[in-house]
Amino acid sequence: MTSDTAGTPPLESELAQAWLRRWDAQQERYVADRERRFTVIGDVLTHALAGCARPLVLDLGCGPGSLSVRVARRLPSAQVIGVANDPLLLALARSAYPQAVRFVEADLRLPGRPALLGLDRELDAVVSSTALHYLPVETLAEVYGELAGRMRPGGVFVNADNLYDEQPVIAGITAALRRTRLGAGEERVSWGRAAARDPALARMMAEREKRAVAGGDRRVSASVHGELLRRAGFGQIGPVWQAGDDVVLVAVR
Ligand SMILES: C[S@@+](CC[C@H](N)C(=O)[O-])C[C@H]1O[C@@H](n2cnc3c(N)ncnc32)[C@H](O)[C@@H]1O
Repeated sequence: MTSDTAGTPPLESELAQAWLRRWDAQQERYVADRERRFTVIGDVLTHALAGCARPLVLDLGCGPGSLSVRVARRLPSAQVIGVANDPLLLALARSAYPQAVRFVEADLRLPGRPALLGLDRELDAVVSSTALHYLPVETLAEVYGELAGRMRPGGVFVNADNLYDEQPVIAGITAALRRTRLGAGEERVSWGRAAARDPALARMMAEREKRAVAGGDRRVSASVHGELLRRAGFGQIGPVWQAGDDVVLVAVR
């Protein structure tokens, strides 16, 4: 199921922006170098899309648009589409960034990935941050296959996420090091509970309850991501930035 922005009464922009600032602070509790990762993704796109007049960029699992809007600011000529399955986060994104990005609700677990099928031209880049770990490996394989079919040759896929090592000792060390680097912001459940108490968000909260938006961390390793991408038709694949298991992985179509 997909839905565009139509039918959602806008929240007051300043209210949405306040919730987004709180979202970003909350996410930094879990992603130590989040802003650095966003900058790296922007650097990759700037390099890979140089000479592309109006690149089409898809942000998978965009949440409230933190990465989408940074990409749009970094590449002002780009057309950026953010896709996620959480109506609350999308409502915040649409209200905070009404012009910069087109936000689409879609569940990447559903067959056919309608958000991808609805594109009217080839993708130049696909980005994602702290999102694809929700997808089971079979779904990831399908999504990568569909992306490969919709990207132009030379297009780039850039995924920033925790990609765990399969070797238990190394995984244990990186997990321990990661704990020392995490921020002290509020927990995501606390953010969710506070949002649930805001009457302005009540309708979106109710919509969120109707969707099964949670998924848990599937702990897919970097080597499995690489293998799935290779099988899907991506050529060169490798990390361009890494701190322990926190990786920015790039694949070239
Ligand atoms: C932790 S948030 C990250 C949001 C944003 N990319 C960021 O870095 O702040 C995870 C996002 O993944 C999205 N997501 C998780 N599973 C999904 C699915 N099956 N289909 C579409 N989006 C999904 C959620 O809706 C949410 O927007």
